[in-house]
Amino acid sequence: MHKLEIGIAGTGYYVPAKVLTNADLEQMVDTSDEWIRERTGIRERRIAAPDEPVSEMAVRAARSALLSAGVRPEELDVIILATFTADRPLPAGACLLQEKLGNTRAGSFDISAACCGFIYGLEVAHKLLTGGRYRTALLVAAEKLSSVTDWEDRNTCVLFGDGAGAVVIKKGHPHGRIIDCYIGSDGSKADLLSIPAGGSARPITHRAIDEKQQFVKMAGREVFKLAVNEMLNAARMVLKRNNYDTSDISWLIPHQANLRIIRAAARGLNLPMGKVFVNLDRYGNISGATIPVALAEMDQAGLLKRGDLVMMVAFGGGLTWSASLVEW
Ligand code: UT7
Repeated sequence: MHKLEIGIAGTGYYVPAKVLTNADLEQMVDTSDEWIRERTGIRERRIAAPDEPVSEMAVRAARSALLSAGVRPEELDVIILATFTADRPLPAGACLLQEKLGNTRAGSFDISAACCGFIYGLEVAHKLLTGGRYRTALLVAAEKLSSVTDWEDRNTCVLFGDGAGAVVIKKGHPHGRIIDCYIGSDGSKADLLSIPAGGSARPITHRAIDEKQQFVKMAGREVFKLAVNEMLNAARMVLKRNNYDTSDISWLIPHQANLRIIRAAARGLNLPMGKVFVNLDRYGNISGATIPVALAEMDQAGLLKRGDLVMMVAFGGGLTWSASLVEW
């Protein structure tokens, strides 16, 4: 181990208790369990309670990650929360999370990169810790997508869920080494996946609400086509610049939006599905939280072995794309 190496020291996740099944959705909109399973791979998703905002899910995931890392909250120098459904627009959700953790000194801020939020956060944490001023960071990706979902729109409401995943990242940690992260975006395609109202361009008004502009809108088919290509480009870029080949990958943890996208990405990387972690069937798409929830589930199940090369890759609103390689 090099004392300057930056490693993932602990993982944790939290999903709300309430399960919403495809059969439940059949009672709410004109859809079917068969359509949802065949087109997306999703069987059920978790829905947060009304009094369970993002900070509440985030703190549960964070406490679990801190415990597994053996780190006390007051040791954290940096707290990063990747989300676009923070408790309120101001202050940053990370500050509310910090307060719940009982930390009073870390620099705390949010990252808005939608489904890529976790990998964007990993890149930021990695570079902050590389810089020398900070030693220990908490990165949480948490989303309460049920709060921005139009429950009358079958195009979107069958896709999303709520939850949180967290990692503790330490300088000089002997394993879980973050080898590299790659982040990219194309803002010219912002409208393909967005929440039109609630920002300064279109504040929440009675009219905006009547027009349901406070909810997620997605041009699913267009996003689908771009997702596979950009995820493959991002993954190949990170492999190439670190002199790895696809055959070196022990585990692929893709963003969990659609099983067809995941299968196509695995095919493109020449990986058997046995090397691809999927939890989409149980949680649906939790935006940036999908990858750290998966990582924590794998960690707790003992699936990750020392030396495993883990490829994480994501695509989402922005449009954003990202990939990261970690040596477990
Ligand atoms: O996480 C961020 C990134 N997001 C993604 O990567 C999501 C990417 N997109 C997707 O995963 C897929 O495009 C969806 C799952 C959103 C949609 O699947 P699709 O195969 O692209 O379906 P489609 O939108 O082309 O719609 C096909 C048909 C349409 O009917 P017509 O026009 O063919 O008569 C839809 O109206 O399926 C209909 N449809 C539904 N039917 C039953 C759309 N949603 C539903 C539904 N139940 N829930």
